[in-house]
Amino acid sequence: MTGTSIAGWGTSLPDKIVTNFDLEKILDTNNDWIVERTGIRERRLGGTTESLATAATIKALKTADLDLDSYGGLILATTTPDKTTPGTSALIHKNLGISGFAFDINAACAGFIYSFVVAHQMVKSLNQPIVVVGADTLSRITDMTDRSTAILLADGAGALVIAPSNEEDCLLGYDLQVDGNLEDILYCDLGGYLKMNGKEVFKRAIRAAEKSTNKVVEEAGYSMSDIDLLVPHQANKRIMDALSERLGIPAQKCASVIERTGNTSSASVPLALIDSIESDSLKPGSLILMTGFGAGMTWGSALVRWQ
Ligand code: COA
Repeated sequence: MTGTSIAGWGTSLPDKIVTNFDLEKILDTNNDWIVERTGIRERRLGGTTESLATAATIKALKTADLDLDSYGGLILATTTPDKTTPGTSALIHKNLGISGFAFDINAACAGFIYSFVVAHQMVKSLNQPIVVVGADTLSRITDMTDRSTAILLADGAGALVIAPSNEEDCLLGYDLQVDGNLEDILYCDLGGYLKMNGKEVFKRAIRAAEKSTNKVVEEAGYSMSDIDLLVPHQANKRIMDALSERLGIPAQKCASVIERTGNTSSASVPLALIDSIESDSLKPGSLILMTGFGAGMTWGSALVRWQ
């Protein structure tokens, strides 16, 4: 086995649906404004990061159908661990008994891209499958009286299994970046609520994602017209639309679940990717361009071949 492929996938969302009309009752906001300015109509709130991540991982393990003892380990991208320590990844291990290591990565809404890249490189060096999960319960750090964040943030989880394969590598190129000087535009103090300068994040997110995706695609020897599916972080539909327009990727090639999930941070890229996988939008050889950005400010992109 010299290459790698995505061998399993699974998602989990809380049962409780909170619509924009529900938010109208507790905030000075309205459905029309939220839909027009963000593209979000409803979101799911509730559960713990452990419970959502475990449920998504169970589905991914089932699709991959590999012996639990064959795994090299598990990486969990999360901004909202359930405990300071142990890592929530250890709690998933407690529930499922996957062999090998388990650790958390906090790179905010770019966390899944960071984790996917790290997991992929470890699959290559260990020659064993690895589970990579993105899971967040942002509702636990959301001030429900703050209309600038409460309309956006939500909970969910998505998991992939990356495994050794006889194909070429599924990861064709990546770019991971941070600018810690931008800490102030999006942050959450310990025990506090998420604070955000929405306009600043909006502007910088589009610029960072555009530059990063262009770099990855060019360095891998492709052009944007080769991309079959763009999977952007589901932060705001207007950011996603502006990005796909700047990249010249038509809207129908842009994975979007934001309308019903809101912004689920580390879970948003896998939720959107798996939605495309499960709706049979991908064919063997399809080129997938994933990109994310978030607090740090972190950002990153990965170009992936669907096998
Ligand atoms: N409901 C109704 N009206 C609202 C509102 C809400 N939830 N939030 C703001 N408004 C009002 C403002 O008071 C303002 O009114 P005014 O023109 O009378 O002063 C008007 O709507 C425009 O506000 P503004 O803050 O300019 O809105 P915006 O278009 O920038 O949208 C965000 C606000 C937060 C939706 C947007 O900035 C955003 O999505 N930023 C990126 C956030 C993000 O992606 N964060 C996560 C990154 S990982």
